[in-house]
Amino acid sequence: MQDIVSKSDLRAELLRRRAAMPPDARAAAGRSIRDALLSVPEVEMAGTVAAYVSVGTEPDTHGLLFALWKRGAYVILPRLLPDGDLDWASYEGPDSLVPGPRGCLEPSEPPRGPGAVASADVVLVPALAADRTGMRLGRGGGSFDRALARVGPAILTVALLYDSELLQNVPAEPHDRRVRAAVTPSEGLIRFA
Ligand SMILES: Nc1ncnc2c1ncn2[C@@H]1O[C@H](COP(=O)(O)OP(=O)(O)O)[C@@H](O)[C@H]1O
Ligand SMILES: [Mg+2]
Repeated sequence: MQDIVSKSDLRAELLRRRAAMPPDARAAAGRSIRDALLSVPEVEMAGTVAAYVSVGTEPDTHGLLFALWKRGAYVILPRLLPDGDLDWASYEGPDSLVPGPRGCLEPSEPPRGPGAVASADVVLVPALAADRTGMRLGRGGGSFDRALARVGPAILTVALLYDSELLQNVPAEPHDRRVRAAVTPSEGLIRFA
């Protein structure tokens, strides 16, 4: 895995591995990640959490979103814009999600603009992998690089990963944005220096 230097080859290998995981292992990982995040102090204290609706083989976030909402956090979720940037709208429970582009579920509430992510106290982002400097690899749209560029340096930003996806090194370009932490099923929250 560490020999793979191109982003696209690494993405393909990571997606193959995710697809090879049994569905019950993926579901269990999602529950572990949910429980770990719900006990992170910044998440417990957060007024607003920016998160995302998992799709396909991503670690499941539906249970996490529901739990955050139930306990009174204001949860905002992305809506993909035609240029690949992200707008944000509030999550008002599972029934408030509607089909969006690329098979994703999106919030049906009024969009609050791409800058709304800057109002979040915690930002949870998808990733295929990250390294221990916080460099993350996404699906190739660069959408979360744009969103993370709007988030202040003191805000906890977290990539949600399966256990084997915290790598020695992730290929990076100048526009790539780091996260401040990752969460995995076995290790829980891992803060980067
Ligand atoms: N801040 C940005 N502004 C405009 N386009 C961007 C920005 N960040 C990334 N992109 C676009 O997204 C593309 C994919 O970015 P990449 O980092 O490879 O994807 P990902 O972060 O999803 O793995 C880039 O080639 C670039 O065209
Ligand atoms: Mg990137």
